[in-house]
Amino acid sequence: IRERTLIAVKPDGVQRRLVGQIIQRFEMRGFQLVGLKMLQVSEELLLQHYTSLCKKPFYPSLLQYMTSGPVVAMVWEGHNVVRSSRMLVGDTNPAEAPPGTIRGDFSIHISRNVIHASDSVEGAQKEIALWFQSSELIEWECCD
Ligand code: CMP
Repeated sequence: IRERTLIAVKPDGVQRRLVGQIIQRFEMRGFQLVGLKMLQVSEELLLQHYTSLCKKPFYPSLLQYMTSGPVVAMVWEGHNVVRSSRMLVGDTNPAEAPPGTIRGDFSIHISRNVIHASDSVEGAQKEIALWFQSSELIEWECCD
């Protein structure tokens, strides 16, 4: 099934110049880019994006981290892109992410884990609607 997912290179990934390598991994895998922008994320957006986490003890530091610099947000499309992206990205905790995954190759700490990837098709739909206007997304006519 063709689906879409939200991928965001977090401030540490942008500062470390990892955007190009991350895009390359999604392109190499065969996914299609349908949206891309760099933005300074607002606290309002983060509150909606991380609603399930707002009671967690690490939430204030998560907010501080996610607003510490620009984020590069992307929408990728393709067959099983949500699940495959999670595999490309690796476990939330980089210590559990195998080498070859983005987190397994580029990060060591859960609170600076370089990249976000939607965790389900429904979650992806909500996140894409939150981060992008439909006019910012390309409707490709051909697939796979
Ligand atoms: P992600 O899965 O993209 O979205 C939630 C984020 O919260 C997660 O990445 C981490 O950046 C952060 N996070 C999750 N658990 C912890 C934790 N125990 N300590 C610090 N940050 C966390």
